[in-house]
Amino acid sequence: MDFQPQDETADSIISRDNEYLLPVYSRYAVALERGEGVYLYDTDGRRYLDLMAGLGVNALGHAHPRMVAAFADQAARVVHLSPQYSSRFPGKLAEKLCSLTQGAAGAGSGLSGVFYSTGGSEAVEGALKLARSVAHKRFGAGKYGVVSLLGSYHGRTYGSLSVTGQAKYRDDFEPGLPGVQFIQRNNIAELRAAVNDSTCAILVEPILGEGGVYECTREFLAEARRLADAHNALLIFDEIQCGLGRTGRWFAYESYGIEPDVLILGKPLGGGVPLSAILVKKEFFHGLGLAKHGSTLGGSPLACRLGLEFLSVVEEENLLPQVRETGAYLRQQLLALTEAHSFVVEARGQGLLQALELRGPGRPLAEAALEQGVMLNCIQGNIIRFLPSFLLKREHVDTAIAVLDKLLREASAGLPVAPQAATTMASV
Ligand SMILES: Cc1ncc(COP(=O)(O)O)c(C=O)c1O
Repeated sequence: MDFQPQDETADSIISRDNEYLLPVYSRYAVALERGEGVYLYDTDGRRYLDLMAGLGVNALGHAHPRMVAAFADQAARVVHLSPQYSSRFPGKLAEKLCSLTQGAAGAGSGLSGVFYSTGGSEAVEGALKLARSVAHKRFGAGKYGVVSLLGSYHGRTYGSLSVTGQAKYRDDFEPGLPGVQFIQRNNIAELRAAVNDSTCAILVEPILGEGGVYECTREFLAEARRLADAHNALLIFDEIQCGLGRTGRWFAYESYGIEPDVLILGKPLGGGVPLSAILVKKEFFHGLGLAKHGSTLGGSPLACRLGLEFLSVVEEENLLPQVRETGAYLRQQLLALTEAHSFVVEARGQGLLQALELRGPGRPLAEAALEQGVMLNCIQGNIIRFLPSFLLKREHVDTAIAVLDKLLREASAGLPVAPQAATTMASV
């Protein structure tokens, strides 16, 4: 199907979306056409600084020349194959991912096997199934409990939703999986009380992303590691949002020095093409078992080739130090906004996963910023979350901060910052 970029107005695109796409997302009133680097362009050619980066997927921004070339070359060879066939890239990417985990937690032995799927939720399902399967085989059917964190986000499919620690997402869909217990992040006493011999997994986001960008402490993660070992449960880290370079290290767990048994990755992994993965320790390589799990579209040659290209670009363009440097600058600027404006409660986060918590609704602020050419993401009603591409530089931060400073001044003075105010928005 051919299409002409200028053959439709933004209004007609938006109204067709409203007519045909189920109203599950609270969409912004903009119709986007293309992207380049840290910028997106709408159908009228207006440019936006993209600090949302496709909910953290577009870590290399838009239309990175190396990703475009790899995409085009692979699309002309083979896009998808049954996972029953071998091809060059899936194993190569798995080998590379495992090698990145070697020594990542200091003394740990690293992870040494990979299962691919498409989205994050699907990978969480795989990790839960692995934990249950390992427990069943070794200790029988009674060992199926999962301990997860209040405020966590693990996805929307039944299993991943069941272990998501936010009742507002689960309410309409109960009952979920049995045996799930939620505890407060960083509450070691609650953790100890919850984990026992019927626990098959402790599931943790080292930095809770969608929940509002809250970090786990090293002590808490160390205790989770100890309890998992003591009770033969798997320690699973969901790094779908905080992993793969977002904190300025390949994995968020590196800065804690605690190694999981299972690591879940997603979002930027396929360079924008759906790809997620679970990485497991050697002893769990056979944990799922032949024909006990699967994913038709998971780990396609195209997605895995893009995954390899993504990792190479991050390494060869030296982006991890850049994430750390720009992240530190962003943090400093957000702290200054916190000092300057009474409407701001707090700034927090690491690398290019940061948040600004507000005293009131954030959506009007995000809408007003959009009108001024800056794309922000509001989560949890009152938190602006920054999840930009790794290409972000200081000058981009300055642009965003100037817009935010103005809007926050108005908000602090009690002025309306946008025509309409939507207070709740589910946004991952
Ligand atoms: C930590 C975490 N886990 C799981 C998911 C679910 O991933 P997906 O939306 O790709 O299914 C997300 C999505 O934001 C996430 O941030």
